[in-house]
Amino acid sequence: MPRSTHLRRKVFVTRAIDPAALERLRAAAAVAVWPGEMPPPAPKLRTALADADAVLSMITDKIDASVIAGAPRLRVISNLGVGVDNIDLEAATRAGIAVGHTPGVLTEATADLAFGLLMTTARRIAEADRHVRAGRWRTWGPMTMLGCDVHSSTLGLIGFGAIGQAMARRAMGFGMRVLYLKHPSSKRIAGAAAVSLPRLLAESDFISLHVPLTPKTRHMMGVREFALMKPGAILVNTARGAVIDQRALVAALKSGRLGGAGLDVTDPEPIALRDPLLRFNNVVVTPHIGSASIATRANMAAIAVDNILAVFSGRLPRCCANKKVRLRPPKDAA
Ligand code: DGY
Repeated sequence: MPRSTHLRRKVFVTRAIDPAALERLRAAAAVAVWPGEMPPPAPKLRTALADADAVLSMITDKIDASVIAGAPRLRVISNLGVGVDNIDLEAATRAGIAVGHTPGVLTEATADLAFGLLMTTARRIAEADRHVRAGRWRTWGPMTMLGCDVHSSTLGLIGFGAIGQAMARRAMGFGMRVLYLKHPSSKRIAGAAAVSLPRLLAESDFISLHVPLTPKTRHMMGVREFALMKPGAILVNTARGAVIDQRALVAALKSGRLGGAGLDVTDPEPIALRDPLLRFNNVVVTPHIGSASIATRANMAAIAVDNILAVFSGRLPRCCANKKVRLRPPKDAA
């Protein structure tokens, strides 16, 4: 492609990303990067997309039907993340805009964090650290900071895609029994048993969520599900906050039915400092960092750029969340 054609294409990147990936994008287009730590406010996003050919978006950017309607040149929304619940997929597909995302490369990092949250909550690691820093470590105590065994316990996985399976492998290494929620699309893996939801809830010492947020999964962990859980069980969520009905979660923690929760995601994000969840010592909250390792974020940025370059070459992104889209033709440069 001649350089002049490249430079006429406009790409808006909604936050600073890995410099090497950005460099490749700059070689192919005129790139504007939103400079703030916070996401661009909605009116700024609209203005930036009014004449953009592509946007490299974050999961914090809400790209709904009205944003899409105001972006007549846009041909690709390339989300830095596997989840695309911040984007109106149907509106994008109707408009002929491809939606790229970054599955695969963040599987292991996210499973690492999920397992870390499981361990941290079970063995009270964050609470023990606070205990030490507050000067309360006075001696070794036979009854001090007693937690739950991880080894030999049962893990129930809700969502058995790539990340759920990666979590299962970690759990097996720790000698855990692994159950997962039966689903027609679930791949079987040796040593893990597919069960119904009531059985999974009743038998699991730990439950870890690995489903995308859809109308079906919103609040799928609610009052009924907490009531069916084994008393003292621990819930881990690295998927999306809204998969859990947070009021029901608070009630289950208050009643003592739930033994704890390790949450990398909340609803809303960020969680308010006055949120009742933050008052529980047996709740660990991290700021949505499942994929936040240096290598993983660089790989995600590389794929997000590849997804844009594919569309500039007239193809669908390799990682495309709306494969049925019929790409709209490029508009002549202004
Ligand atoms: C995703 O990829 O959807 C995560 O939530 C952010 O890495």
